[in-house]
This record gives sequence, structure tokens and C-alpha cells, in this order.
Amino acid sequence: MVTSAMAERRFPSDFRWGTATSSHQVEGGNVRNDWWLFEQQPGRIKGGDRSGLACDWWRNAEADFDRMAALHQNAHRLSLEWSRLEPEEGRWDDAAVARYRQMLHGLRSRAIEPVVTLQHFTLPRWAAAGGGWESPRIVGWFAGYARRCAECFGDLAEAWVPINEPNVVVTLGYIMGRFPPAAHNILRAPRVTRHLLRAHAAAYRAIHAVGPRARVGTAHNIRILDPGPAPSRLAAALDRRAADANSWAFNWVWLDVLSGRAAHRVRRIGQVEECAGTVDFIGVNYYTREHVRFDPWRPQGGFLRSLRVPGEARSDGDYGEVYPEGLRRVLLDVWQRYRRPIYVTENGLPDADDDLRPRFLYDHLAALHAALEAGVEVRGYYHWSLIDNFEWTDGWALKFGLIAVDPATQRRTERPSARLYAEICRSGALPGADVLREFAQRP
Ligand code: BGC
Repeated sequence: MVTSAMAERRFPSDFRWGTATSSHQVEGGNVRNDWWLFEQQPGRIKGGDRSGLACDWWRNAEADFDRMAALHQNAHRLSLEWSRLEPEEGRWDDAAVARYRQMLHGLRSRAIEPVVTLQHFTLPRWAAAGGGWESPRIVGWFAGYARRCAECFGDLAEAWVPINEPNVVVTLGYIMGRFPPAAHNILRAPRVTRHLLRAHAAAYRAIHAVGPRARVGTAHNIRILDPGPAPSRLAAALDRRAADANSWAFNWVWLDVLSGRAAHRVRRIGQVEECAGTVDFIGVNYYTREHVRFDPWRPQGGFLRSLRVPGEARSDGDYGEVYPEGLRRVLLDVWQRYRRPIYVTENGLPDADDDLRPRFLYDHLAALHAALEAGVEVRGYYHWSLIDNFEWTDGWALKFGLIAVDPATQRRTERPSARLYAEICRSGALPGADVLREFAQRP
């Protein structure tokens, strides 16, 4: 048991402590979206896995809501599945509305405040077939969906994220070809980015028109790109320039435009001035950093190649470096650039045997606390994830949960880090590092 006497670092009393999930990854049976179709194509998902029943939330999310409450969490970020709510263009499903109302009410009745994401990587089949993010029509489709969501759920949710990680949508969907529509064409990226930006801005306005007190932000993946060790000064200079250019394109363009910091400078994307000033808070999804080197033969990779630096701690499946200091760096950068309230809307790692997660959690929260002490307005932390879930092209291979899930039996098993996080959520403080010994044993 952690005692308050051991507590060293306190967080603000109204700090939000939670976890994050997304509809397709946990609900099960989401047959009407583009990802479901994608999963049926041979070779797309590791091991031929499918989302299937996922974590069975559509039928029984409440059992996991009970677990959140037992673990002292007071917030949860979840997403609505557009393809359930609007299975065909213009046809709204009342039963899906009722089920989401029940879920949001279920969270609130357990004193867990929801943050609602409207779109987390999946598109209704009809929208994907109509051109998806490449079609200008998606701006109107998405605005209509957002308005309707605000009308149906606005009494149960105040914080909204229209689109999860638009930079990942562009990079994995249109440049690297790993997510639907599996395109490998960087020339399609500006058009897709423009539509994502305009859809976000239209949703921002629609949600505020329905509920003026709503807060509408974004959840953005920020990946630190640091040059690796270089053989010469010229190579080091090239590595730095290439890293900075890619960091701007991946990490900052979206936020610069939405915050109004540089909408006018992003001319190649075009028509995005209307998007300025459409973000009330910034959600940071921080996972890892990459060491990079300039490589003239990799235009599709932004002229960058990843390096492994000896001594780096890496998580399961070579997912990425464990680099807690990066969270402090990112929070400071975001604060200095935009001066908006910040939430860490995702942070976690794949770690099936939980040998890294307790220390990961502890060190990232220490980094977050250091940012708070430096004056950054961070208001909450949402660990990815509460439970193991369908990890996109990695299927069920990567385990991000504080709680393990066997997708075949739906059996849940708490990992030690769930208890560590519960202690932190309960006390609102980071205990002395000696407490880690208690949680560092394997299950
Ligand atoms: C995504 C999640 C995903 C997580 C772990 C995030 O970028 O928003 O859907 O499961 O990364 O890879």
C-alpha cells in the first residue's frame, strides 16, 4: 500500500485520470466500416487476425466501466462508430443512438467523465466507397454526422475530439499503404490533409452551434524525430534538416493550421484559412521517438531512414523506443507553440508480460509532472489502454492493456501496472520510486 507520506509529486486536484479506447478496437461486430472489409483481405493483418467480437463492448462495456471505477479512474476517452450511427448515407440508427446514450450515461453514473472521439480511423463503408477522405463531399458528410452527435449526446458529454490522429490517417493510409485505402502515393496526401482539416473545422463549428459550452479539441500523434549519431558534420547537418522538415510535416502542420499559427503559410494544402481557431484544447498522443538519418533514396519516407541506437529500451514487437523524457519535451513544445490547455489523450506501450509498463507509466507521469512544474497547463492523462484490444494491422499480437484480455474467452486479467496506476489515480500523486519494486514483479 502506498502511503501519502511517501507521495512526492502531487497533481492538481481536478486532474483527469483515465484510459482511452476506440470503437472498432473494443466494440466487436463493426461490420459496416472500411476496416472490417480490410481485415477480410488476405495478408493485411498480422496472423490473419480479425477484430471479430473485439472486447465485446457493444454488448457489455459496462463490465469494463466497473473495472475503471474500481481502479479509481475518473475519465475515459472513447469513440463513437460512425458506421453504426449512420449505416447508410442519411439514415440514422436510433438503436445505436440509444446504446451510446446508455454507455455515456454508464460512464457518468460511475463518476467517469467521457471525452468523445467522433472518428477513430474507421469510415462507414458508404463514405469509403464514395471516395473517403479524398472526396470533398466528406466535409459535408462529417459535419452532418458531428451535428447529429452533438444533438444526440451533447447532454452527456462536454469534451469532443472530431478526428483521431489525422497525421496517422494520411501517413499510414495514403503514403505507406498500411491502413485503408492502402495507397502508396505521397501526391495524394495534400488533398486528404485538406479534407481532414476542413472536416475537423466543420465539426468544430457544428458541435459549438448545438452546445456553446462544449469543448472541442484534437487528438494528435506526436512522434519525436531526433537525428542519430552521424559520421560527419555534413551528414549531421543533413540529418537535422531532414528530421526537422519531417517533424514539421508530421507533428506540427495540423496543429499550426487549427490554432491559426500558420494557416496562411500552408499554401500547398490550400483553402485552410477557414480552419484557424478551431481547437479549444490539444490532445497529445505520445508513444515514442525515432532516431533518423537522411536518406536520398527514400522519397516515400520523407528522405529519412530509421536507426537503432545501441542501448535503447524497446517495447514488444519492436513497436518503438521507450523514451519518457520525450513526453516532457512534447508538452513543452506544444505549450510554447499554442498556449492551449493540453490533455495527454493517449500514451502507452505494448508489453504482454508487463515487465516494462510499471516503470513506463511511472516515468511518463514524472515527465508530465515536470511539465506541470514548468508551467504547462496539462489537465489530464488517458493511458492507452484499459484493456488489450484489436491493434489494427498488428491484430491481437500487441498487448497495450493495463488489463489483459483473451479475445477467445473474453477473460480479463489485471496486470500489475493496473494496480500501480490505480494507486496514482486514487492518491492524485506520484509516490516515491521505491514503490515500483512492489509492482515490478511479473504476473
Ligand atoms: C492509435 C490507437 C492505437 C495506438 C497504439 C494510436 O496511435 O490512436 O488506435 O491502438 O496508437 O498503436
